[in-house]
Order: sequence, then C-alpha cells, then structure tokens
Amino acid sequence: MSSNHPLKKNVYNKTGLPELGLRNYWYPVLASLRLRKGRPKSVKVLGEEVVLFRNKNKIYALNDQCAHRGARLSEGSCLYPDSDTLTCPYHGWTYSGETGQCVAKLMEGPGITIPNEAKVKTYPVREHLGVIWLFVGDMEAVPLQEDLPECLANTDEWHTISTWRTYHCNWRPLNDNLCYDLHAPFLHRNSPELIFQPIFPFASRVKTIPLKDAKGLGYRALGGITESDYPGLGHFPPPKEAFWRRLKPLGRGQELDPQSSQATKRYGIKYRHMSLLPTVTLVGRPSGDYFMCRWVTPIDSETTLFYSFNAFRRHSTIKTFFDRLSWILWQSWTHDLIFSDQDKRVVEKVRSDREQLSLSDAGVIAWRKFIVDNSRRPNDENLHQNLNT
Ligand code: FES
Ligand SMILES: [Fe+2]
Repeated sequence: MSSNHPLKKNVYNKTGLPELGLRNYWYPVLASLRLRKGRPKSVKVLGEEVVLFRNKNKIYALNDQCAHRGARLSEGSCLYPDSDTLTCPYHGWTYSGETGQCVAKLMEGPGITIPNEAKVKTYPVREHLGVIWLFVGDMEAVPLQEDLPECLANTDEWHTISTWRTYHCNWRPLNDNLCYDLHAPFLHRNSPELIFQPIFPFASRVKTIPLKDAKGLGYRALGGITESDYPGLGHFPPPKEAFWRRLKPLGRGQELDPQSSQATKRYGIKYRHMSLLPTVTLVGRPSGDYFMCRWVTPIDSETTLFYSFNAFRRHSTIKTFFDRLSWILWQSWTHDLIFSDQDKRVVEKVRSDREQLSLSDAGVIAWRKFIVDNSRRPNDENLHQNLNT
C-alpha cells in the first residue's frame, strides 16, 4: 500500500488498533485437510509469510524465506520425510522444522561448518478441531487453550463445524462489524435465516460489561422499538418488507433473561453476545447449547481470514447427528453464506478515512477501547501513549 493511500490515514490510527492485528495470540490459519503430508503450504498471518509442512504426524511452521538467498521455502520439498526437515528449492539448504536451523547445504557437501545464523524463524503451531492454529508474536507462546473460548476448548462437551472465507478488507472493519454493532435490525432484517426469528428492536441502548476473566466484553441491549414514524419520511419499517417480517415469530434471537433462560440457569452463561480477545465473537442461544464463534485472522493490511465455528453442546449421538444435519441443510447456506454475504458486501467497501461515531456505535466504541486497554502486547511500551494522543 502506498504511503498516501487513504487507508494509511484512516481513523483507526487514532484508536491504537494496529493495522496488522494483535500480536501474541493464537489464530486459526488453515483447515487441517488442506495441508497434505510432504506438501508445504504458504500462509500469511499478520503480514508474516509462513510455510507450513507436515511430516509423519507433526506440523511445523517456519518463516517462508530461505536464509541463503531468499527463495520461498513453500516452493521446496520434504526430501527427507523421516527427518522433520524442509529443503529449499533453489540450492538445497535444508532446515529443521523444530528449530529452524539449517542442518545441511546440499550443494556444499556434508563436511562443512554451518553457522548458527543459517536459520529461519519458527512459529508455534497446533492442530485442533480440524484447524491449524499459529501463534504470531514476540513472546513465548501461551498454551492454545488459554486463547480458546470454552465451546472450542472443551471437546468433551462441544462438537464443532468450521468454515472459512477471505475478506478483502483490513481486519478492523470486520472486527467492528462482528462485535455488538447495531446493524442487524437494518442490514439483515430481510435475511431468509430470520424467517423463524424475531428481528432485534432498533433504538436500543447497549450496555457493555467486562467478563469475569477480563478476556472480553458481554453485551446487553436495553429497550428499543420495532417501528416508528420519522417526520418528513414516513414509517419504519417501510411497507415493502419481506412477508415473513409480518409473521412476528418468537424464538432464538432474544437477549438472555437471567431469570428464565436455560443458558443462565443451567450453564451460567450471562450474555447472548460476547467479544473475546483477540478478535473473537460469540453469539449464543437462550438454550445455552449453541454458539456461533467467529474468529478474525488478519492476513495483511488489506486481507482478512474469517473463520467461523458452529459449536454445539454434546448431549447424545442422535442429537449430534441432527445438529450437524441442521447445519448442512439450513445454517450453512442461510447463515454462513447468505446472511454473512450481506455483511461482506458492505464491510469490504467500507472507507475508514472518515467516520462519525454515534449512539448506535456504543458496542463498537467499547470493544475497540477494551482491545487497546487489555490486549496482550508485552513489547509495546508506547501503547498507552498512542491512545492518549
Ligand atoms: S535460496 Fe534457498 S538454498 Fe539458496
Ligand atoms: Fe451482520
């Protein structure tokens, strides 16, 4: 991106939210099935080029730039599959997946001395829920479990289905879109997914509450209306709505009632909608048996990976079967495709060089501030100075 590109001067520069994402967290980067044994694959995360490769049963992640003359290691090969190494395609420097150290320069013979500097950076990498996770940062990796919400960490209690999409925008507009942003009653009101669900009221006030573990925010919408007259314009909603908006169904899209919802009474879940560090959104149901978990992985300043996990609480084999069937027959296209596309079309074209935050942005403002105040950035001493300017 050139230095006079409008995104360089965008409003986010004032917020302290880094353009390339929050370092020192785990991120989902690739579906496990896309990494075949002995076939290295390049991924980009938070602007860093990484090569992933799988040898025997283990996965390794190295910086994708050969220390010799900079060829792409992802174009190389696992010539010695029993040795957990990756060989550069250009002159055969061969790297240990474990340490990143060059262990052989194939064109120079076996007897040479290899200096310590002949190495590439390694990244902590894990495989979990059929997804490859990478820790990108400047500190020793925390255990993956520490960054996962309970519905992704506890596989005895939950089963998941995951999908991914690439968004052609910076991670920050997508992150704003997923936290408690009051766009659903407008943008999604005619989405086919909501045929059996009531639409949220508008003009509600959003209360944000830090979660107990200080890893995120819970949202509660207070009040709101479902219709009104706007002087000089007319009625909202307008007469030409999708017919199902007139059905006024009752159902899932309600705030959790602490007195009566099963989610609160049985499982202690207090909020239907939560944001968690680094860039995770959870939207649940009053039953407490389902969460839609969206994870935003910055690729570079203009591209973002959107990983979506549908997490279902395990009850019985038959319930698991029907959960998965209902996702395949209904949610996969009504939500993960059509509903999400309504967001995607708007978010990818957002210009962030000017913005006027308003009443409906209370959730966005709170979540941006929470990230800046609480995210794990051990090496950034200027963080709070930036915020105050
Ligand atoms: S550039 Fe990789 S071995 Fe020469
Ligand atoms: Fe949306």
